[in-house]
Amino acid sequence: MAIDLSAKIPNNVDLDRDPKLRRALEAWQPKYVEWWKEVGPVGFQTADVYLRTAVDVGAQGWANFDYVKMPEYRWGIFLARPEPDRTIGFGDVADEPAWQEVPGEHRAALRRLIVTQADTEPASVEQQRRLGALAPSLYDLRNLFQVNVEEGRHLWAMVYLLHRYFGRDGRDEGDELLARRAGSPDKPRMLTTFNDPVEDWLDFFMFTMFTDRDGKFQLLSLAESGFDPLARSCQFMLTEEAHHLFVGETGIDRIVQRSAEITRLDSNGDAFRHGAIDLPVIQRYLNLWFSSCLDLFGGEVSSNAATYFAAGLKGRPHEEKYVDHVERDDIRTLHLPGDSERLVAKEVPARLAINEDARDSYIRDCERAVARWNKTIRNAGLSFELSLPHRRFHRMIGEYAGHYFNPDGELITSAEYRLRADDWLPSPSDRAKVRGLQTRAITRPGQFASWIAPPLRGIDGRPVDFEYVRFD
Ligand SMILES: [Fe+2]
Ligand SMILES: [Fe+2]
Repeated sequence: MAIDLSAKIPNNVDLDRDPKLRRALEAWQPKYVEWWKEVGPVGFQTADVYLRTAVDVGAQGWANFDYVKMPEYRWGIFLARPEPDRTIGFGDVADEPAWQEVPGEHRAALRRLIVTQADTEPASVEQQRRLGALAPSLYDLRNLFQVNVEEGRHLWAMVYLLHRYFGRDGRDEGDELLARRAGSPDKPRMLTTFNDPVEDWLDFFMFTMFTDRDGKFQLLSLAESGFDPLARSCQFMLTEEAHHLFVGETGIDRIVQRSAEITRLDSNGDAFRHGAIDLPVIQRYLNLWFSSCLDLFGGEVSSNAATYFAAGLKGRPHEEKYVDHVERDDIRTLHLPGDSERLVAKEVPARLAINEDARDSYIRDCERAVARWNKTIRNAGLSFELSLPHRRFHRMIGEYAGHYFNPDGELITSAEYRLRADDWLPSPSDRAKVRGLQTRAITRPGQFASWIAPPLRGIDGRPVDFEYVRFD
């Protein structure tokens, strides 16, 4: 089932059989391209970028690699193949047949879930738009643009669902998605993390490591949805998302490698002096992005999440790994701030604490990556260790928001917190030093900025010094 890339909107959803829907999406398409040109990557729009484009939805051979100018990228609509007689795997509707249409009583909730996911996709493109000018290599520049065009495609995936299943309201939402802007004071994106500035490439790799990884867990949860078109759409997005996570995790690994090598050579352990990034600064960026991304999983106690779970709208990542898919009677013990500024154990019905299950899986996945980076540091002969801050640290949403915790998760006073904040989060001076290393793009094939090690391999079997971006 190869996809026809010459179609106006490449798709595997039989758009030709639904002329009204096709016309609506064809009317949205030029607005989308307008948006891309206006707030997508700054510069490079006429460059030939070695990008992959989805041409199938199978496990193998689903992508085609070739040079393409970004505004001409073939953004399309692809759903994973349907699973015959699929049933819902969780909640009060467990074992009932999955829905092929939107159930009337869940229309508002499903629309909200889809719009919230959709909004993050263009937001990240906007956040990353200025990074091309500071790229550490052609390899990295190409990866940035690959991530950007695929986030654009994820927007297409969600806008298709809105147009196809939500009528007029859905079309209005599709237009609104192109009207909000990351970081705008009057029309911001919906979630805080997606309004935060991504100013340098350390931010970018932290973003693709931690924020795209939140995306992965959200998509895994939505891939469980009883609403089958949403589930299938998210399944295929996960295939593309894997590369974004690779970019983040290996990007940090390569930075850490260079930092460790340089730190070991300098008698004062000063990496910046030799064109690399100090490891404690990397730790502070990590603290910032990890804590911000934990907020994306929502409150520790959430009646919305409980409702979505009970109704079969949004499950947990890899729901099949849980023993109890209904969670009607279970309880979970949470340690929450009590009246007297102490943490107290509180028993909460498991459904109300369902966000904690997703957050747990996310934290485990992040811990695995941190262990990998620490191995890289050890291999360079250094004893420094990176670590994830505690889940209570620096939270703006949920039960810990409004309280102060150190990175070990201990409750502290606001005065103590203010005194230590620069040890725990990037200071303006940290940011200035990182930016001091990133003042221009490195555009000679095979050349890399001083603060990052080259990757082990290139993309699509190409060598590391391949000309991943060609300028006119
Ligand atoms: Fe995405
Ligand atoms: Fe992504």
